[in-house]
Amino acid sequence: MRHINYAELSKTIASLTEGETDIVALMATIVCEVHHADDRFHWTGFYRVTEPDVLKIGPYQGGHGCLVIPFSRGVCGAAARTGAVQLVPNVHAFPDHIACASSTQSELVLPVFDTNGDVIAVFDLDSDFPDAFTEVDAYEMASLLSSVFAK
Ligand code: SME
Repeated sequence: MRHINYAELSKTIASLTEGETDIVALMATIVCEVHHADDRFHWTGFYRVTEPDVLKIGPYQGGHGCLVIPFSRGVCGAAARTGAVQLVPNVHAFPDHIACASSTQSELVLPVFDTNGDVIAVFDLDSDFPDAFTEVDAYEMASLLSSVFAK
């Protein structure tokens, strides 16, 4: 069972993205490295804020994801709307969870902030395992995202 090493991941992403400012390139690189770092991660991707109260899909790995999510809906909308991490041990207990895959059992969604502190995207991790994500995952992913997008 492959398990993420956050120290190694952080160094790899810092090296791969050094000097890069294009947001799509940054997102695609993060998604690729994170997704393949851990067997718990069955879907990994970004949803971008493309207009007020609207998220649209960005770079991702895994099965197809829904293209548009209003801030009023889903785990992603909750993260974008509140600016708070959503650590969901059981998606079936989350009101209005959007199931892009019927196999998803648990989810971790983090808001992505820019240097102004504005939410510019959310980072979504889905697992087919129940209760797959921990507070350590939430903390480390938030630190990684901040180091790339809010530096
Ligand atoms: N589950 C998310 C939707 C995105 S798909 O999982 C990729 C939600 O409830 O917002």
